[in-house]
Amino acid sequence: MGGAEDHEHHLYSRRSNQQRCRKRTKLKILLLVISTNLLSVYLFSGATLDVQWPEHAPRIHLWDSDALRRDLNSTRAKLADAHVALAELRLRCSAASSLLDTLLSELGRLHGDDPDGLGDGELSGELKLVASPHKLPLGFTPNIGSDELYPVLGAACRRHQADLLAYMSYEVGRECPSDEISAQRLMLKGCEPLPRRRCRPRSPTNYVEPTPFPESMWTIPPDTSITWDAYSCKNYSCLVNRGRAKGSYDCKDCFDLLRGREKVRWLSDNGGLDFGIDDVLRTRRPGAVRIGLDIGGGTGTFAARMRERNVTVVTSTMNFDGPFNSFIASRGLVPLHVSVAHRLPFADHTLDVVHSMHVLSNWIPDVMLEFALYDIYRVLRPGGLFWLDHFFCLGSQLNATYVPMFDRIGFKKLRWAAGRKLDRGIRKDEWYVSALLEKPVT
Ligand SMILES: *[C@@H]1O[C@H](CO)[C@@H](O)[C@H](O)[C@H]1NC(C)=O
Ligand SMILES: *[C@@H]1O[C@H](CO)[C@@H](O)[C@H](O)[C@H]1NC(C)=O
Ligand SMILES: *[C@@H]1O[C@H](CO)[C@@H](O)[C@H](O)[C@H]1NC(C)=O
Ligand SMILES: *[C@@H]1O[C@H](CO)[C@@H](O)[C@H](O)[C@H]1NC(C)=O
Repeated sequence: MGGAEDHEHHLYSRRSNQQRCRKRTKLKILLLVISTNLLSVYLFSGATLDVQWPEHAPRIHLWDSDALRRDLNSTRAKLADAHVALAELRLRCSAASSLLDTLLSELGRLHGDDPDGLGDGELSGELKLVASPHKLPLGFTPNIGSDELYPVLGAACRRHQADLLAYMSYEVGRECPSDEISAQRLMLKGCEPLPRRRCRPRSPTNYVEPTPFPESMWTIPPDTSITWDAYSCKNYSCLVNRGRAKGSYDCKDCFDLLRGREKVRWLSDNGGLDFGIDDVLRTRRPGAVRIGLDIGGGTGTFAARMRERNVTVVTSTMNFDGPFNSFIASRGLVPLHVSVAHRLPFADHTLDVVHSMHVLSNWIPDVMLEFALYDIYRVLRPGGLFWLDHFFCLGSQLNATYVPMFDRIGFKKLRWAAGRKLDRGIRKDEWYVSALLEKPVT
């Protein structure tokens, strides 16, 4: 699980920076245009209204009809000028106001006010089919509060229409393009869930059935069980050896089920940062922990150890340059392909335990982290456990930011350990926190 943080961090920061930049640029241009326009309105009106009527008001020369005519003439001329000026002013005002409308609708679009998602006018083909609501057959009285069924499509998809169009470009009924990487990038840009498609992913050639359970949990599957197009490694021995080689990859050594650290994780409790699964389960009545979620769970070893204790754990993971989801599935465990930004796909108060190691850390912007923690709180049942395993941060952030944040969510601390990260952590004031938190019963 080590290194998972780095990679995800990388992807996330790049994504959000680009996005933010593009959004800001658009808004800046609009604001610039508007402010220039408003400025010119101001200057223009200032100049013409500076006519100073009192001074130019006609003096009444009752005894001199010529002078009177001259005065009237000049007043008429000035009035005509003023009319022109007013007309000009009105034009500029209406231009500024239409720009303001554009700005407001742009802001609305960015904030998701457009109820139909992508602005149906621009859609066509598969994208229109998959992104638009569809009428239910007559006679159905559904409990969805509408006579149309709405497709599920991440709101952020509309910000990446070019990528989305590429993703939706395929031949209906044929093999999907080999686009797992770009599809996953789209998810990481917030287009999550991705829209459905009407094509078939390419099947692996010479597929063999998985090893029967429970041996499957500790068996590295045959290379022919998946397609490798999306990854730099082209077989499992490459992935296993990657754990022993130099270089930074997600969950570097967790494909090594036989000799690596994976074999011993969570089996013993060192009284510090490493909690043991059995010690954690002992905090509840026997059998009271039955179902749970491991967020960013690498190759699924936490779920495997839980399964050995009759606890069913779903493992969420992305495929960061490795077939993490397939690997977990081949072990006979349940993978869930959602990012850490995704609202957890569970109803309130449903899970007995949520675990996360090395994923929730200081690379996640504070606000997003707080939303994520509240979401974990939400899905846990009263009395449910949140095992925050090796949360990484700097010493200065720990007491200033994270301890108050964990307190704010409302968890009860059952166990708490903070310790300096070994190796470079000593020098750089890098810390880990492991905590066992409980959602209060009342
Ligand atoms: C009134 O102004 C017009 C031009 O606007 C000019 O031709 C005319 O001679 C002026 N009449 C007098 C009486 O000043
Ligand atoms: C595994 O794939 C790597 C490249 O990813 C290749 O160099 C190596 O020869 C392959 N090994 C086997 C046993 O197929
Ligand atoms: C798991 O469940 C099975 C069947 O109910 C039972 O025989 C086994 O003892 C349980 N294992 C543990 C570790 O509780
Ligand atoms: C955080 O605060 C506690 C006491 O409130 C203190 O013992 C600890 O050293 C602080 N930790 C860091 C990393 O500053």
